[in-house]
Amino acid sequence: QEQQHQPLFAQMQRASDFYEAMLRSHEQRSKAVDYLQRRGLSGKAAKFFHIGYAPPGWDNLLKQLAPEQPKEQQPKEQQKDTIKQLVSCGMLIEKDDDGKQYRTYDRFRDRIMFPIRDARGRTIAFGGRVLGDEKPKYLNSPETPIFQKNRELYGLYEARKIRQKLTRFVIVEGYMDVVALAEFGIHYAVATLGTATSEHHLRRLFKIVPEVIFCFDGDQAGRTAAARAMETVLPLLQDGLQARFLFLPDGEDPDSLVRHEGKDAFEQRLNQSDHLPEFLFAHLKQQVDFDTLDGKARLDQLAAPLINRLPDGMLRQLMRQKLKEETGVDSHALNKLEAEAPASS
Ligand code: UTP
Ligand code: MN
Ligand code: MN
Ligand code: MN
Ligand code: MN
Repeated sequence: QEQQHQPLFAQMQRASDFYEAMLRSHEQRSKAVDYLQRRGLSGKAAKFFHIGYAPPGWDNLLKQLAPEQPKEQQPKEQQKDTIKQLVSCGMLIEKDDDGKQYRTYDRFRDRIMFPIRDARGRTIAFGGRVLGDEKPKYLNSPETPIFQKNRELYGLYEARKIRQKLTRFVIVEGYMDVVALAEFGIHYAVATLGTATSEHHLRRLFKIVPEVIFCFDGDQAGRTAAARAMETVLPLLQDGLQARFLFLPDGEDPDSLVRHEGKDAFEQRLNQSDHLPEFLFAHLKQQVDFDTLDGKARLDQLAAPLINRLPDGMLRQLMRQKLKEETGVDSHALNKLEAEAPASS
């Protein structure tokens, strides 16, 4: 299996080296370099993450990795094999044509390239960002025989490489968030790749550390992602494992925020982030009118299935206890009931 994919890993490495070289030497590199500088990225960080540049044009990668050769130098068959491999790992796209000729073109053009690496450091995919406002802002490799989005995390290999002894991970949304946090000395951020956080992702992280902090963008999408992540993480929370949630000010993401306020303030936010029970109840209370008995009954309905997702253990007991406390009819609710009831009866 692994053996059979060897050529794909090799092509991805060649592609990564090519994009890195283009950031150093392409005639239009200055616009890429300027862009990275504007974003505050140091050369050191760019190097560490092997960030590169896919130049404009339809066949830069194609020509570099699968060049036309005089017949005697490189048999045509070999060029064909290379092209097929590059198609298979998502770097070239096949053109629809009349079938007379096999034609392909570069998937990534005029983009900043972020190589995504597996646990062993092999490049298995790329994320590519436009330099301006074109859409899509990020283009990611498709699923390939060596890349499954819902298993891989950007920055995981790099985090482990920098620091052997990790105690927690921060899960962020974007490539730039991972790179910016690392730049500021927070080397334990990882990003999902344009997908929701999956059970696979979380299992991998919990094999390495006992604590995961979700830190999504301070916008509606980020808050929705956090709620989904909570549902996903619940069944994994054996005793001793922790999930926490950090909500950023509106309009901020980890990249922008760490640049505004620096490492210490950002880490302080991490240290003070919500524990799962706090977040769960706060989240549910937003969905009900908690000042009414009816609301409390609803809270009970919403919370119970979530709490039941937890494995048997301390946390589950604690949450059941907390739910009882939250929904138990207290004097405030009673007073309110009495005040409201007579009018309608
Ligand atoms: P964001 O738009 O929040 O990305 O999307 P970002 O990292 O903050 O982008 P910039 O560079 O600072 O503007 C978060 C993540 O969602 C995925 C990417 O993985 C991105 O890093 N995404 C976003 C896509 O896959 N495609 C898109 O078009 C946009
Ligand atoms: Mn490299
Ligand atoms: Mn966002
Ligand atoms: Mn963002
Ligand atoms: Mn951003």
